[in-house]
Amino acid sequence: MLASEGYMSGFGNHFATEAVAGALPVGRNSPQKPAFGLYAEQLSGTAFTAPRAENHRSWLYRMRPSAEHPPYVRYQGADLFAPGTTDEPVAPNRLRWNPLAIPSEPTDLIDGMVTMAANRDPTTLEGVAVHVYRANRDMERRAFFNSDGEMLFIPQQGRLHLFTEMGRIDVAPGEIALVPRGVRFRATLPDGEARGYVAENHGALFRLPDLGPIGANGLANPRDFEAPVAAYEDVEGDVELIQKYMGSLWTTTIDHSPLDVVAWHGNLAPWKYDLARFNAIGTVSFDHPDPSIFTVLTSPSDVPGRANADFVVFPPRWMVAEDTFRPPWFHRNVMSECMGLIHGAYDAKAEGFAPGAISLHNQMAGHGPDVASWKGASEAALKPHKIEGTLAFMVETCWPYRPTRYALECAELQKDYDAAWGGFPKARLP
Ligand SMILES: [Fe+2]
Repeated sequence: MLASEGYMSGFGNHFATEAVAGALPVGRNSPQKPAFGLYAEQLSGTAFTAPRAENHRSWLYRMRPSAEHPPYVRYQGADLFAPGTTDEPVAPNRLRWNPLAIPSEPTDLIDGMVTMAANRDPTTLEGVAVHVYRANRDMERRAFFNSDGEMLFIPQQGRLHLFTEMGRIDVAPGEIALVPRGVRFRATLPDGEARGYVAENHGALFRLPDLGPIGANGLANPRDFEAPVAAYEDVEGDVELIQKYMGSLWTTTIDHSPLDVVAWHGNLAPWKYDLARFNAIGTVSFDHPDPSIFTVLTSPSDVPGRANADFVVFPPRWMVAEDTFRPPWFHRNVMSECMGLIHGAYDAKAEGFAPGAISLHNQMAGHGPDVASWKGASEAALKPHKIEGTLAFMVETCWPYRPTRYALECAELQKDYDAAWGGFPKARLP
């Protein structure tokens, strides 16, 4: 198996890993006496009775059961993380935000999380929330887990080191990492500061999209996803354990590190993926496919083809289409689109969309290239052209987003975004 050091290769594989030889039971999940007095614990990511192809669970062998903890109380902090969306009417406006600054006060990943938009309610097991994190401090003697959904981390600035129950993941801008629902982790910042995005998926687990006529290969290839080998820490003393549960944050203190899983096996696991390995596919004749051709991961809804959430990237790629307006066309979409930019420039916006920014084009909002991008692409010589040095992404969902109150009131909200589509010349009829 080829994988980076400390990782195992393959999306959704059934992995088996132990940090101490002999810790992992062989041939059974729950022996009467697990090795070394470890506790066997099943972590279910899907219902016990989910169809086999969709059934994800792992068995964890840990130093103390995760059931051992005092009651949770409301967490007093992270005021901008999951504040809940208002029931007030949402204006049908296109919205865009400048990058949120990294705080000057010491702020860790959890306290630095800002929810920008969300839909549905986590308790419906549907919908997605988009957060921005900005942090300048390691989580010290703090761990977090999310009972509401899996968290897809999309670093934009600075690396993240995620020490999860199931092993260690280092992720840098240009890579993504997923922490499954319920998995405890601590984030540290090797570069001192970090900023990025999180797509919190409350619905069906993210999976690789079907490829249809594309065939057996292409887009994100399964072997490029890397799950960590088992790693644990044996730390006594108070550790604060924070969880997001039914849309709000709760805390308790336990007397040891919860990152004490010595071995695990199963197909529910954190992973990371280098977006540079995404095999971008596009036209070699005319027109370009719908942006769904750039889907990295999809969380299906109950309606075939209508995603609860798609994670889509716009990576470096060749543009060769003949007699074609090459950037994204003007469009209105029943799906709702939240975009971010990891680095470079996005080909549909000449300015105003910097790395770290966010845009939101909700259900049926007319959007597409701004005037400068339209003019440039309409008049460009259609030679083969490579779009380089850019990486944008979209979290597209069938549920219209509700921006948070903070998102609607913060200074980073661009008041003049509609001007991006002002001043198109009128068509001239014969
Ligand atoms: Fe769009």
